[in-house]
Amino acid sequence: MSAPDLRPPAVPAPAIWLTGAAGMLGRQLAAEFSARGRAFHASDREVDIRDPLALREFCRGKDIRWIVNCAAYTAVDRAEDEPDLALAVNAGGVENLARLAATLGATLVHFSTDYVFAGDRQEPYTEDDPPRPLSRYGWSKRQGELRLAACLDRYFLFRVSWLYGIHGANFVLAMLKAFREKEKVRVVDDQFGSPTYAAALAANIARLVDDGSERFGTYHYCDRGVISWHDFAAAIMAHGLRAGLLKKSVPLEAIPSSAYPARAQRPLRAVLAGGKAESELDFRVSDWQANLGEFFREKARLEEARP
Ligand SMILES: NC(=O)c1ccc[n+]([C@@H]2O[C@H](COP(=O)([O-])OP(=O)(O)OC[C@H]3O[C@@H](n4cnc5c(N)ncnc54)[C@H](OP(=O)(O)O)[C@@H]3O)[C@@H](O)[C@H]2O)c1
Repeated sequence: MSAPDLRPPAVPAPAIWLTGAAGMLGRQLAAEFSARGRAFHASDREVDIRDPLALREFCRGKDIRWIVNCAAYTAVDRAEDEPDLALAVNAGGVENLARLAATLGATLVHFSTDYVFAGDRQEPYTEDDPPRPLSRYGWSKRQGELRLAACLDRYFLFRVSWLYGIHGANFVLAMLKAFREKEKVRVVDDQFGSPTYAAALAANIARLVDDGSERFGTYHYCDRGVISWHDFAAAIMAHGLRAGLLKKSVPLEAIPSSAYPARAQRPLRAVLAGGKAESELDFRVSDWQANLGEFFREKARLEEARP
């Protein structure tokens, strides 16, 4: 006869709901939760965050304790032409999630952007600095921040900048494609900021959820270091060549923003001061070069594994 099992019954971990799970950060968070053996519910477009009934229906019977919202309208230039849609998703959708979280007693983790700032000063922006978005996308994200804070106490709001990762559309993947396909690449050298590697952010968020942190509030998060887009592009080329993902170097021309007109106005220097997330949430923050190196190791591994 086998000995009786005296261990206490396993307590299921509180349920997590990841929205925007098919996006760049959403896919990275899904991978991170999975790697940690953390079960989670996932949704994307099929559960429209603009629709409060659909949201309520989705979480029926699921005992959701954490909502991690990666759903967003992120087309910065297009938002100039469809501001109502940007607002409906980035403010209305966030308000719906915040109201639902309040009803459920759940915690909402949400992401915003350095584009809520004007970027017209030298010093990094702290969480207490007043936002002044220049674009309709930035404005819609700022409205989302305000509605989140108005509807819910149990929230974490992370402003991140220059997000990139293995999945989705982002500057690093766009540069790699350009370096492979073009004879010469032009990149602006008068806009400064800090990249955010999605995998490093996702690891910090998953730890926050695992720890059940209640240090709610607004936090800035990005990799350490301040660079221009041109600096970033040059580093991407160097890493790409070293990793064997690029066969040859391509002339890289530095241009002013005025030579690369875009629909939406971007901040020239929206640098986020990230100290609070490190000191209060114990977030691990790495140098942007180190994280770019991690990205390239992962990218090379994935390309090698591809049949
Ligand atoms: N990317 C950056 O450089 C950057 C910088 C700073 C902050 N952020 C913020 O970081 C967060 C994650 O960004 P990301 O780059 O991972 O975004 P993303 O790749 O655009 O992913 C957003 C996801 O949300 C989905 N979605 C759009 N509208 C929806 C709706 N009404 N209901 C449900 N799902 C909807 C999108 O579907 P479709 O693809 O079909 O639209 C997409 O799968 C966002 O809050 C963003 O504002 C991003």
